[in-house]
Amino acid sequence: MLIQYFKDDATAFNAAKKGTINGKGVINNKISSTIFKFLEGRGIKTHFVDLLSDREMLVKHVKIFPLEVVIRNITAGSVCKRLGLDEGVVLEKPLTEFFYKSDSLNDPLVNRDHIIAFDWATPEEFQYMWKEALRVNEALKEFWKEKGVKLVDFKLEFGRDLEGNLVLADEVSPDTCRLWDAKTNQKLDKDRFRFDLGAVEESYKNLMERVAQ
Ligand code: TMP
Ligand code: ASP
Repeated sequence: MLIQYFKDDATAFNAAKKGTINGKGVINNKISSTIFKFLEGRGIKTHFVDLLSDREMLVKHVKIFPLEVVIRNITAGSVCKRLGLDEGVVLEKPLTEFFYKSDSLNDPLVNRDHIIAFDWATPEEFQYMWKEALRVNEALKEFWKEKGVKLVDFKLEFGRDLEGNLVLADEVSPDTCRLWDAKTNQKLDKDRFRFDLGAVEESYKNLMERVAQ
């Protein structure tokens, strides 16, 4: 097993922007742990084992696929830039995108054929990640709705553990999800840091308080 340590360091735009969000590590560890436990309760296998301390999570050792799986419920971020779309359009069905994890290439968007052709995952592994990400979306939409938050989009990473099981890994936190207040559409996630919107720490704290309720 491994210990995953949550820092306050923040990066954006492939680390072109660097900073610190005070208390973020503690908040992301708590929110991520709560979400992993919630997802396990919904039958989704994760790398989560235990919350060890404020900044430490005990996790299974997994080999991560070099892929980021993004699900979008509302348009925002890179899809708007790439396709010239307005932000905030509610999608009729969740939109799934895969990105190849490569800093030097700036994490390009890839499709199923690329993933299989270049052996980043097998067809079965691709199918699992795709279906599982949509199951995670249904569970998480409900989780956040109860807390008065809209799940706009999020990024997942999957891996294979030492017993050969495919599991959800990494973290699920305000760093990896876009989360808007359900009433006001106020952004409560890392976009506040990415785009210098202010009240970054307050927004992370706000989410943590809603999760702790
Ligand atoms: P995007 O709109 O920039 O493609 O981001 C989609 C979602 O993925 C958003 O919730 C932020 C999250 N994300 C990460 O967690 N890590 C990343 O490196 C990127 C680019 C996005
Ligand atoms: N954390 C990523 C980076 O270092 C991107 C992001 O979350 O915006 O660029």
